[in-house]
Amino acid sequence: MKKILITGASGFIGSFLVEEALKRDYKVFAGVRSSSKRTYLSDNRIVFFESELSDRNVLTENLKKHKKIYGRFDYIIHNAGITKSCRKEDFEIVNFKYTKNVINALIASDSIPDKFIYMSSLAAYGPGDAHSLQPIKDSDIPHPITLYGKSKLKAEQFIKSLEGGFPYLIFRPTGAYGSREKDYYLAFKNIKQGFESYIGSMEQHITFIYVKDLVRLLFDALESGISRKSYFVTDLNQYTSIEFNRLIKQHLGKKTITLVFPRPLVKILFFINEKISCFMGRPSTLNSEKYKELICKNWLCDSSEITKDFDFIPEYNLKMGVEETAAAYKREKLL
Ligand SMILES: NC(=O)c1ccc[n+]([C@@H]2O[C@H](COP(=O)([O-])OP(=O)(O)OC[C@H]3O[C@@H](n4cnc5c(N)ncnc54)[C@H](OP(=O)(O)O)[C@@H]3O)[C@@H](O)[C@H]2O)c1
Repeated sequence: MKKILITGASGFIGSFLVEEALKRDYKVFAGVRSSSKRTYLSDNRIVFFESELSDRNVLTENLKKHKKIYGRFDYIIHNAGITKSCRKEDFEIVNFKYTKNVINALIASDSIPDKFIYMSSLAAYGPGDAHSLQPIKDSDIPHPITLYGKSKLKAEQFIKSLEGGFPYLIFRPTGAYGSREKDYYLAFKNIKQGFESYIGSMEQHITFIYVKDLVRLLFDALESGISRKSYFVTDLNQYTSIEFNRLIKQHLGKKTITLVFPRPLVKILFFINEKISCFMGRPSTLNSEKYKELICKNWLCDSSEITKDFDFIPEYNLKMGVEETAAAYKREKLL
């Protein structure tokens, strides 16, 4: 039975990674911290690997102890990360420095796995050209526009600089959606309340990946003979923000009032919202960094390599994914 460590197991994508690992009969070690909620980690086959990632020496000792009891992890998916924060420096600390800590601790404890997947993000490359609408490619020069994207890129660069054949794969998912997700959920909720919101008159060209397809791809990649490559991840289709809202509307059977907010107003509103939510101690989705992403026209990317290397064919297009997601939100009485 292969042993896998999934960091950030308590979060949205992490909890689906854990489910996929169990489905594939792995021995699953859920990487959590003591404060992590374990709502979606109730399966009694899960073993918790509890460790802060902030201290490389503590992490090294924890890995050594773990190795003595269970042996080395065969695979690791380092998925822990932050997408929003009230402290700007936290992006670099959590997404870059902690990634470095995890890898250095693996090396120091002689625990390098057969495959190490790093969960990066499309944000590490930044948006594509707004005029040509060409999809972003792996060979393009990355130009992240947010602190989040910059921190993910730094982690990628560190991993790629590792010598000795460190067996990594880097995945850069575009927007991942599905039940348990909290950011796209706001669009579902908005439409349920009868509103459809846009920034300016600009239509955004966007990509999506349904969480179940994402986790299936990652496990196919783990089990493949491929390493030391990086990939964008989408469902291989291109969409627009209008199309996304239309699918939600159709599924919920709602008529909506379209609200088009001017950019300067949104910028101010997001700034105020960020200050208030951070004052209350909780970072909000609608923040100044998110604003930078929302005003970009082109978030298309070329994910054809995942099909070439892993025979990836998505089981869900956006319509199917939206339907399943909305049904889950309804079951959880969120819609
Ligand atoms: N959702 C997307 O659309 C998307 C797209 C591209 C890439 N990603 C990447 O996918 C990963 C998972 O994202 P998600 O959407 O599932 O986010 P999420 O629901 O917020 O989950 C984040 C996970 O990371 C853990 N984490 C956060 N800060 C940590 C810290 N200081 N130390 C240890 N663990 C920490 C969280 O643990 P706690 O529960 O203890 O907070 C949680 O388990 C992230 O790396 C993100 O950048 C997400």
